[in-house]
Amino acid sequence: MRELKKYEGERVILMACSKCNVACTHCYIGYKGNRTPEELEELCRHYSKDYKIVRIDGAEPLVDLGYLSSYKIVGQDWIMTNGLRIYQEPEVIDLLKESGIKTVFMSYHFGIQNSLNGITNEMLNEVTRMLREKGLRVVLMTTITNKNAHNALEICDEAHELGASGVEFNKIFIQGRAKNLSNVGLSKDDYDAFFTQIKQARDKYDINDLEVRRSGTFGKDTVNEPNRFQCSAGVKKVCITPDDHVYGCTCICKPGYEIGEVHDGQIYLYTDFVNDRTWCLGDKMGQLGIEDIRELNNPDVMKLTRKYY
Ligand SMILES: C[S@@+](CC[C@H](N)C(=O)[O-])C[C@H]1O[C@@H](n2cnc3c(N)ncnc32)[C@H](O)[C@@H]1O
Ligand code: SF4
Repeated sequence: MRELKKYEGERVILMACSKCNVACTHCYIGYKGNRTPEELEELCRHYSKDYKIVRIDGAEPLVDLGYLSSYKIVGQDWIMTNGLRIYQEPEVIDLLKESGIKTVFMSYHFGIQNSLNGITNEMLNEVTRMLREKGLRVVLMTTITNKNAHNALEICDEAHELGASGVEFNKIFIQGRAKNLSNVGLSKDDYDAFFTQIKQARDKYDINDLEVRRSGTFGKDTVNEPNRFQCSAGVKKVCITPDDHVYGCTCICKPGYEIGEVHDGQIYLYTDFVNDRTWCLGDKMGQLGIEDIRELNNPDVMKLTRKYY
């Protein structure tokens, strides 16, 4: 049996379900199981007692509208969605508002949307319009591959034109179904273009007009300011899947990647789990094809990972 210590970070992310209403070709979700809305509510109350921040994540939370009641319990005024349920049932917007949601983070994959899941840009434009009409902020989440890495500024312009309050860029993770995609990874040239244009977009738009966010998974900014990224997986945050397994990050919630265990409703970490925080843990594991976190913590593997950056 591996030795355990109590998790004392500040953030707990509860994965509500593995269910989704589409099957994106790039989806990193690797766990299985679905909470009932009642279970989710109970866990939200329970973990809020011990942890400063409790958050609810997907896969797609709008597959069960019963999940919405939990957002108020943890004081989460935003939700992530692919937008499809809102498109199909616009009355869901009123439910979102009643549940205290103020910002909708909606997937909108500029340049690559049509190849991913059958939800079209036109559908998402309509959803964006309806959300804004009802007074909700919209932040568009775009996955960046080598196909759209050179278009970051143009993407910001388009998002601004659509009335979005922000754009969040997420670098493609080679996890889950994304492992079946070929030739999507970013080259040095793609990174340089991306970072250059992010800077241009931030110079162009006031943050209150269009917030330009990028995930730390892009790693070191090769063009602009020094990298301040510190991976929080297993240090400041943990994710609990519907089968009560403990993972370090939403993108590495999959059997073999556990960093701890839940016992009697308490979260514990393996004492041999170490995250030196210098790189995104999920990205590192994806690039190395490592399925077992213990291997990653092996000093030889740590040495090897450094070659990738
Ligand atoms: C996992 S989804 C959950 C929320 C919701 N189902 C959605 O798609 O917006 C959160 C975000 O991660 C993105 N995502 C999924 N798989 C990814 C991958 N392999 N690399 C980078 N981003 C990914 C999705 O496109 C989405 O913008
Ligand atoms: S990325 Fe989101 S919408 Fe796409 S399959 Fe995964 S959970 Fe569903």
